Amino acid sequence: MITAQTRLLGVIGYPIEHSLSPLFQNAALSYLGLPFVYLAFDILPSNLERALEAMRIFSIRGFNVTIPYKEKVIPFLDALEGEARVIEAVNTIVNEKGKLIGYNTDGVGLYRSLERKEVNVEGKKALLLGAGGAAKAAVWALWKRGVKSIFVINRTRERGEDLANWARAEFFLEVEVVEWGKMKEQDSLPLWQEAGVIVNATSLGLKGEEISLPWEKLSPSVWIVDVVYRRGLTPLVREAKKRGIQSFDGKEMLLQQGAESFFLFTGEKAPLKVMEEALDWKPL
Ligand SMILES: NC(=O)c1ccc[n+]([C@@H]2O[C@H](COP(=O)([O-])OP(=O)(O)OC[C@H]3O[C@@H](n4cnc5c(N)ncnc54)[C@H](OP(=O)(O)O)[C@@H]3O)[C@@H](O)[C@H]2O)c1
Repeated sequence: MITAQTRLLGVIGYPIEHSLSPLFQNAALSYLGLPFVYLAFDILPSNLERALEAMRIFSIRGFNVTIPYKEKVIPFLDALEGEARVIEAVNTIVNEKGKLIGYNTDGVGLYRSLERKEVNVEGKKALLLGAGGAAKAAVWALWKRGVKSIFVINRTRERGEDLANWARAEFFLEVEVVEWGKMKEQDSLPLWQEAGVIVNATSLGLKGEEISLPWEKLSPSVWIVDVVYRRGLTPLVREAKKRGIQSFDGKEMLLQQGAESFFLFTGEKAPLKVMEEALDWKPL
């Protein structure tokens, strides 16, 4: 029931109409009978600062933040907490009595996904495709799970180098950058053979784009983890499954980052099963 005590939560992005967060966040809120509603807001870039000011004016309790604002919101916040300071991107804003605090739950989301699927990366080599915000969250999660070294493969080499420098400085990880175009060349094949986990943190797959890996070179025990999700499986995960390679897509991370945000907004542990079922109602 909506009363005068009901407070607003939401997700901001541009565009936002495909966001699945309202679906599973509202299911969890109503399951626990909490006095919140969660809506999606399409915010034009020119309105971002005013949207955050409105959070204070309307006492909006919290926002999730998605593409393209995860870094752009930072100048308008009062403080960053936890992983947001390291990852330098915010996907959750909590309004604490008019102070806007930025958090990053993407890293924790992937960390928990790896944990829940029992992906053991301790002391292993990881191959990471991509070097944007999701890739940074992935580096954090892999480091937290004890990975030994990371090979970064990104279309724009310079961005890959920036990510590698950041990961070395923050986590003292062994990181090497491999050129995107060299993905299949003979000298880079040992990387694929030795990888314990391959994480796709590019946006490839979102619109059904294939990623052609040297499949026949991969270790039979490798895990393929896609941060991307879409209706049905992503092409990468579909191909992995076809080949009998253990894999999962970004729905798990979506759920886990949402569960962590839910806790930050409400102080209550998220009912994961309820959220998962809500996602199932609308097949991805
Ligand atoms: N499951 C979840 O909860 C979750 C959470 C966060 C993000 N994600 C997903 O992760 C993906 C990446 O998000 P992001 O925030 O990291 O975006 P981003 O910062 O814009 O980075 C995009 C990455 O994809 C690469 N890329 C884009 N188009 C490409 C192409 N045609 N060929 C090769 N590489 C290409 C970019 O390479 P360049 O550097 O060369 O441009 C960059 O590495 C999105 O699909 C997003 O939905 C999922």
